[in-house]
Amino acid sequence: MSKVRVIAVVNQKGGVGKTTTVVNLSACLGEAGKKVLVIDADAQGNTTSGLGLEKNKLENTLYNVLLGEISISDAIQQTVAENVDIVPSNMNLSGAEIELVSLEDRESIVKENLSKIKNNYDFIVIDCPPSLGIVTINALVAADTVLVPVQCEYFALEGMEQLFHTIGLVQNNLNADLQIEGVVFTMYDSRTNLSIEVVEEVKKVLKPDMYSAIIPRNVRLGEAPSYGLPITIYDTKSKGAESYRLLAEMVIDKEWK
Ligand SMILES: Nc1ncnc2c1ncn2[C@@H]1O[C@H](COP(=O)(O)OP(=O)(O)OP(=O)(O)O)[C@@H](O)[C@H]1O
Ligand SMILES: [Mg+2]
Repeated sequence: MSKVRVIAVVNQKGGVGKTTTVVNLSACLGEAGKKVLVIDADAQGNTTSGLGLEKNKLENTLYNVLLGEISISDAIQQTVAENVDIVPSNMNLSGAEIELVSLEDRESIVKENLSKIKNNYDFIVIDCPPSLGIVTINALVAADTVLVPVQCEYFALEGMEQLFHTIGLVQNNLNADLQIEGVVFTMYDSRTNLSIEVVEEVKKVLKPDMYSAIIPRNVRLGEAPSYGLPITIYDTKSKGAESYRLLAEMVIDKEWK
């Protein structure tokens, strides 16, 4: 019997494809029969709306869980995707960065809460905000592994150093078991040398046990969120859907010591 794996999808750079990866990887894991819980840890709430929930009509969100107002099981909802549940978020969460500062054990609130419901799932996937603040640190403390989306663009490597430094700090101080799972190259365009170069450069710094997956730039992936649907439902035969299925296979097949 395999145990649950908690995956934090992290990159402090904005707009690199974190949310697109969380929504569609989770949907593909669910499609493959895995039980998935998504944690939307970003106040933008794009994962919440991308999985079909109305983010402005939520009673119970991650914010209420973090402040200890409700238990995590009261915040869990079903999504449009098969086998995928979510702890949703909306703008409320933007206050958390400040409000959590005064709390004891403020780095491990997400971990504490997940411990109560973890065993109901095969995978827990956390969408992080584009910052390395207290909410992202909570995700890294709760996580078994980190998955880093890298956009195939200029300056893709900029910020990677800071990210790996932060991951190192968390490993040294808060979560010694944290491992980097792999890199997802997003918005890849095989017609441009730039995309090819970014992949080559980043692969040079990956350890042998890390995998890398390529997600092409695909119009359907960009459209799906406005319908509140993951790509597996919006256009199940698209290149985007196929590429996220391949990523899901890598995630499932990856073995951990
Ligand atoms: N493979 C892709 N093909 C086409 N469009 C994509 C792809 N991946 C992401 N996008 C689009 O790029 C934009 C940024 O993606 P996304 O929201 O997933 O990034 P993010 O890292 O979560 O951003 P933020 O840092 O603001 O949370 C979105 O409009 C999304 O639809
Ligand atoms: Mg996002």
